[in-house]
Amino acid sequence: MKKILAFVLALAMVFALVACAGETKTEESVQVGIVLPTKDEPRWLQDEASFTEALKAAGFTSEVMFSQGSPATEQTNVEALIEKGIKVLVICAHDATAAGATVKKAHDAGITVVCYDRLITGTDAVDYYVTFDSFAVGVAQGQYLIDKYAGKTNVPLYLYSGAVTDNNAFIFFAGAWSVLNAAVANGQFVVENCPAIADYTGKALDAEKDHKVLAGILGTITTDWNFATAKSLAEGNLVANDASQKGDVAILAPNDGTARAIADAFAADSAVTSYVITGQDAEMASLKYIQDGKQSMTVWKNTATLAKTTVSLVADVLNGKTPANATAKYNNQTKDVPSVQEEVTVLDKDNLQQYIDAGNFKQADIDAAK
Ligand code: BGC
Repeated sequence: MKKILAFVLALAMVFALVACAGETKTEESVQVGIVLPTKDEPRWLQDEASFTEALKAAGFTSEVMFSQGSPATEQTNVEALIEKGIKVLVICAHDATAAGATVKKAHDAGITVVCYDRLITGTDAVDYYVTFDSFAVGVAQGQYLIDKYAGKTNVPLYLYSGAVTDNNAFIFFAGAWSVLNAAVANGQFVVENCPAIADYTGKALDAEKDHKVLAGILGTITTDWNFATAKSLAEGNLVANDASQKGDVAILAPNDGTARAIADAFAADSAVTSYVITGQDAEMASLKYIQDGKQSMTVWKNTATLAKTTVSLVADVLNGKTPANATAKYNNQTKDVPSVQEEVTVLDKDNLQQYIDAGNFKQADIDAAK
């Protein structure tokens, strides 16, 4: 009897141990928390996929959460990740200013805060910034319009910007205006929808130093990164303007989603004979628009590269080293943030096929895009 009892007891202990081990496993802490702005734009789904692959390859435990355009959800996500014991927070904030208080909580808890793609401003609670060269994105967009209308004068130019809550929107626009301002001053273009920029004809604007001025200008041409807002803004401009302000036009659209919306509005106006329109992100639907001649270009930001760069920075942090790749600096209005900056690529109908052939994009995905 004693032997049976001892056996049962031993068995029970083994079960308890197994259960305990199981518990430890499910409660295993997450090392890297990733917070992205929204699932509703293909751009951020590309980032999610790139991160999942790069972090898996590096062997880190991680979790990706989406804020769905809400600073409140963003905060709840960050709090949940702090609870899970993350050591590094990688965050692409919805609102550059509002996110300051959120990341402070993580920073105060000893977590390293890495801004991803969008810089969080007005706080010292950010440690690193990993980004594409956003100024170069804007320059590429502006220069594309200039090159396509080389030798022409008085070309109607329509300007649109991203959300004023996003620091990138300022940098993209400053980049574009750094080349467009001279093209307006020399008579190549006439700005048709933004009187607020008239004082800056022939003058570049600095995303940091002229932040307030830019906020005023962008406030009059902002799409808020929203398809519907972009469409009604463009329609409003077209209703307000007469045929002399149309014809063959140039359109600075900040990204692909808004470019398609704005392009649709311009295509529907019979007084617009042709248009050249910029974009950004290489979304499948826009690659389709490019192949169909409905969007002129896009600036491709290879998220696989950015995710890998971020993971290598995170690896250094987790190993207690100073990240070797954070050699650039971005000022966030409170401090100079050590940063990594990746290059961008212009795609249009002349070179897109070459990137498809190289395996960067699949024609089937482009065809399937809505
Ligand atoms: C990103 C763009 C994106 C936009 C809208 C920006 O901060 O850099 O790639 O199109 O946000 O989500």
